[in-house]
Amino acid sequence: MACADASQPTVAERNVGMIDFDRIYDRHQFGSVKWANQWDEFSPRVEGEDLLSLWTADMDFRAPETVIARLREAADHGIYGYTRRDPRHYEIVQSWFARRHGWSPALESLLPAPAIMPSVAAMLRTFTKPGDGVIVQSPIYSPYFEVIQGNGRKLLVNRLRLQDNRYELDLENFAKLAAGAKAFLLCNPHNPAGKVWTRQELTALNDICERYGILVISDDIHCDIRLSDRPHIVFSSLSEDAAEKSFICTAPTKTFNLAGVPSATVSVANKQRREALLATMQASFMVNANFFGRLALEVAYSTGAPWLDQLTRYIGGNVDFVLKFAEDRLPGITPMRPDASFLVWLDARGLDRKVGGVQRFFVDRAGVNLYDGRVYGPGGEGFIRLNVGCPRPLLRRGLERMSRALESL
Ligand SMILES: Cc1ncc(COP(=O)(O)O)c(C=O)c1O
Repeated sequence: MACADASQPTVAERNVGMIDFDRIYDRHQFGSVKWANQWDEFSPRVEGEDLLSLWTADMDFRAPETVIARLREAADHGIYGYTRRDPRHYEIVQSWFARRHGWSPALESLLPAPAIMPSVAAMLRTFTKPGDGVIVQSPIYSPYFEVIQGNGRKLLVNRLRLQDNRYELDLENFAKLAAGAKAFLLCNPHNPAGKVWTRQELTALNDICERYGILVISDDIHCDIRLSDRPHIVFSSLSEDAAEKSFICTAPTKTFNLAGVPSATVSVANKQRREALLATMQASFMVNANFFGRLALEVAYSTGAPWLDQLTRYIGGNVDFVLKFAEDRLPGITPMRPDASFLVWLDARGLDRKVGGVQRFFVDRAGVNLYDGRVYGPGGEGFIRLNVGCPRPLLRRGLERMSRALESL
């Protein structure tokens, strides 16, 4: 693979401000999970020859130059001691959401967090008891299963309904489950489908949660890469009662490709619950800032908007490319167009049956590693998730390999 020198911005980036998202970088040297094809050292590795990694959700792009420059400055300073956030940190978060999504959370509602999933775990431990039911809507980001079951809570799965290659809510079943639940873990926008939930859909969910006294944990990590006109509606902005019962989890990590320098922010409007959550986080020593994570968040949110706008156009181009390519050259695969995120959910159910496991088929026969839909729970069988947060030449290479593998069937 021909790779560029990551230490230098291209001339285009320096002079014109145009970012060269087509450039391919070698990520192996810094322990990339995606390119090792292994989530961590305790998980199985996907073995295969010369694998193209289009699975886990980080991107193969450099972060905005402003972020890199500031982190470099901090790295050069060389003293990586304990770090605190000052009030400006929260103003930066508030201002980002006000500018990008028309949502201006009260400054006092904001709590810092090391990342999204540890905060979700802290919420479940604080506001539910072992054995309490927690609803998720599958197919869904699989760590939701782990965080619920791993903390001894009862997993309640409301399967989404697939209609005309879009997911719809099953409100009837949601209401049935709600009668025995304490919390609902909402993914907005939805991973793996990239669906942005509408105001009507969220209001319908809120009405049921209100009826049964259910808390709503909303994970909005994918909200910033908006590929359609659908606005991102923050659950707590629906109404006062929605704000009272909800926890909004946000992070710049997907948006600006900062998963390795993590930081997150949680908005909790209800004061008592906010204090209770903070107490759990303090008891788990989760509140101290990470030296690089804090900085990355602040610089990204305050200066990264032009980069994000370019990135969003590029990702939109990649999605169009996948849809056209699939139509022309990937028989048996139907992509779902995402409203947001850099993920494309591919319906390959017929093919999956034919080859006895479509994810393994593409690893073995195409040298392409995609996420197996089964991981996402009920309704994910026969699907695969493609990460298009990568240079188009690499994406093209992957799709061509997949096409050739299908031709050989
Ligand atoms: C929906 C969703 N939530 C949370 C995460 C992970 O967040 P964090 O790394 O901040 O725990 C991901 C990463 O893929 C995700 O897709």
